[in-house]
Amino acid sequence: MRILIVGNGGREHALLWKLQKDAPEAQFFATEPNGGMTPLCVPVDIPATDIVALAGWAAGHRIDLAVIGPEAPLAAGLADRLVRSGVPAFGPGAGAARIESSKAFAKEVMAEAGVAAAEAATFSDEAEARAHIEAVGAPIVVKASGLAAGKGAIVCETRQEAHDAVGEMMGGGFGEAGRVLVIEEFMTGEELSVFYLTDGERFLPLLPSQDHKRIGEGDTGPNTGGMGAYAPVGFATHELLDRIGGEIVAPTLARLAELDAPFRGLLYAGIMVSDGGPRVVEFNCRFGDPETQAVLPMMKSSLLEPMMEIAEGGTLEGYPTPEFRTGAAVTTVVASEGYPGPYTKGHPIRIPDALPPGVVVFHAGTRETDGGIVTAGGRVLAVSAIADSFEVARSRSREGAAAVEFQGRQYRRDIGWREAERLAPS
Ligand code: AMP
Ligand code: GLY
Repeated sequence: MRILIVGNGGREHALLWKLQKDAPEAQFFATEPNGGMTPLCVPVDIPATDIVALAGWAAGHRIDLAVIGPEAPLAAGLADRLVRSGVPAFGPGAGAARIESSKAFAKEVMAEAGVAAAEAATFSDEAEARAHIEAVGAPIVVKASGLAAGKGAIVCETRQEAHDAVGEMMGGGFGEAGRVLVIEEFMTGEELSVFYLTDGERFLPLLPSQDHKRIGEGDTGPNTGGMGAYAPVGFATHELLDRIGGEIVAPTLARLAELDAPFRGLLYAGIMVSDGGPRVVEFNCRFGDPETQAVLPMMKSSLLEPMMEIAEGGTLEGYPTPEFRTGAAVTTVVASEGYPGPYTKGHPIRIPDALPPGVVVFHAGTRETDGGIVTAGGRVLAVSAIADSFEVARSRSREGAAAVEFQGRQYRRDIGWREAERLAPS
C-alpha cells in the first residue's frame, strides 16, 4: 500500500506516525517533509498547494490513499483533482471545504441548518462594517472571512479596537482573505475541539480536546495557530457530545449535502460551551493543529481503516466508534522566539535521546540539513505525553518541552490549566 501525506506540520507528522502504526508494511510519501517526517517517508518535492502537479504525481505513482492535512490545498480543490485522477483522497472537495475557507459561507450554512452560533453579520463594505460596530458596541469579534492561518479572528474589547481590526483587514493587511468580514457577538464560555470522521452523512467522533490559542501563559497576548492541547476534556460529557452531534454536526452535514457539497473527510467543530449550551465558534475542514498531536497518540483503533473507507467513497454505516486508551494526553508546542510575530530560522535543534516515559516529539517547523535538524517555522515542535493521569501527562509534556533546545525557544508552561483547576481539590 502506498500512502501520501500532503503537508509538513506537526499535525502531518502525527498523522504519518499514527498511520505507520496502523500499517507498518505500507510505503509512505510526504510533500516537503519536515525534519521529523523525513526519516519515516519518501520525500515528494512538490508544494502542498501545487494541486495540479501533486494530482499528476499521485496518479503516476499509483498512490492508494492521499491524506490531505492543511486547509489551503483542500480549499484549492486538491481532493477533487485527486479523485478525478483516480487517487482515493481523504479530505473534502473544495465545495465542502468552504465551511472553513469562507466564514461567510459557514455562517449561512449554520443559519439555514438551525445550528447555534454567535450572532453575526457579513460585510464587504468598510463604512457599513464601521456603522455596525457603532450600533452594536464591544466586546465584539472581527473576522476575515477567508483563510488566515488561524490569525483571522480578532477579539476586540473596545469599539476602537474593532475599528482598528476592520482597518487592518480591509486595508489589505489580510490580502484576499480580508475582503469580506464577519463581525460577530463575543461569546463567553469554555472552548472545545471535536473531530469527526465523516462520510458526509454518518460521523464518528474522536476524543474531545482543547487548544490554547494565545501565545502567553494564562491565555494572554495575540492568537497563534495553537500553543498546546490536551485530551480528553473533563467537561465534555457523553451528554454534551450527544448534543453537539445531534444539534450541530448532523444538521450541518445534511445542509452541505443538500447544497451538493457533501463533506467527506474530517470535520473539526470548534465549540463554545456555556450555560446556554454548545455553540459553534468555527468549523475547520481538516484535523486541528496541535490538537491532533494530543488526540492521535490516545487512539487505539485504526485510523487508516475509516479513512480508507471514506476516501474510497464507502459508507460508515455500522462502523464501530473509534477506541481510545484511558488516561490523558498533553501536548506542549515549542515555538521560535518572536512567534507569532517575525522570527528567524535555521537554529540548530537538540532533542535528547532520553525523554520522560510516554513522550513523543512531533516536528512542525523543522528541516533536516547535513549538519542536523534546524528550525524552519514559527511552531517548531509539539511535545506530547500520554499517561494514566492528566497530571502526570501534563508534567511530562512540560519536562519534555524543557529538555528540547534551540536558540530563543518559547513554550507555555500552563498547558491544560483549566483541566488542572477542574481536577484540583477545592
Ligand atoms: P477562529 O479563527 O474563528 O477560530 O477564532 C480564533 C479564536 O478566537 C477562537 O478559538 C476563540 O478563542 C476566539 N473567538 C472567535 N470567535 C469568537 C466569538 N464569537 N466569541 C468569543 N471568542 C471567539
Ligand atoms: N488548533 C486550531 C486549528 O487547527 O485551527
